[in-house]
Amino acid sequence: MTDRYAVIGHPVAHSKSPLIHAAFAEQTRQQLVYERLEAPLDDFIGTVAQFLAMGGAGCNVTVPFKEEAFRFANELTERAELAGAVNTLWLDDEGVVGDNTDGAGLVCDLLRHTTLADKRILLLGAGGASRGVILPLLDEEPASLLVANRSADKAEALAAHFREFGEVRGSGLDGIGKGEFDIVINATSASLAGAELTLPDSLWRPELLVYDMMYGKTETAFLQQAARHGVTQRLDGLGMLVEQAAEAFFVWRGVRPETGPVLEALRAAL
Ligand code: ATR
Repeated sequence: MTDRYAVIGHPVAHSKSPLIHAAFAEQTRQQLVYERLEAPLDDFIGTVAQFLAMGGAGCNVTVPFKEEAFRFANELTERAELAGAVNTLWLDDEGVVGDNTDGAGLVCDLLRHTTLADKRILLLGAGGASRGVILPLLDEEPASLLVANRSADKAEALAAHFREFGEVRGSGLDGIGKGEFDIVINATSASLAGAELTLPDSLWRPELLVYDMMYGKTETAFLQQAARHGVTQRLDGLGMLVEQAAEAFFVWRGVRPETGPVLEALRAAL
């Protein structure tokens, strides 16, 4: 029988996940279908429960339901537990298992371009997107990780939550000036609004690698800001999107698809 998967969100019409998973399935010769499901804002649980009851094998969860999916799961992986959010669900004998592949996706994409061990990493933002990637980043044993946020208290609380897992600190954006970094990752939602971040000039060095978790047809506001400061190594979040999907595909199917060609095709179609 063909297994059924879906991405559940609101809105979900724009989601590239069906395209990505169809490409993975074709490449690895797996029999599956993957659809888009738009849940009403007040009925994520009804939508996902019905999908699973009707034989759905698993699903991805996107904005704005990742925290609800976290509460819905009967069992959580450690990375989902620490992320406080779930983007991948499936059924096993015990019930619904919740996982979070976003951080693994970011790390996988970064590792295609650089190493993370012993690097000094600056993570901008302290919302859900930031929280989801801290553990996988610390697992790579960077020299340091500074979480900096417009509201300093949120960054400090987030860093405290992960302190036992590695060298992580939190500060306001004004705390950035005191450090030197190798990699800067934007996990704020500022690029969604096309807004630049207020960052100290001392941050920018031509050798930096900057990464924006957002992506678009043209460079995000944050990447344009970095370009103006002479940074040449600039990456957007399209690679993270494909890699988090590959990690979910692996969790569900036990097969790891090749991501490079899928990323290339998506990029060409943007
Ligand atoms: P997400 O789940 O995408 O992380 P979120 O939880 O709403 O969304 O978090 C948004 C993050 O972007 C926050 O860290 C927010 O900073 P504050 O906590 O100070 O609000 C950050 N952010 C959004 N717009 C920003 C801007 N223009 N400048 C700086 N930070 C911004």
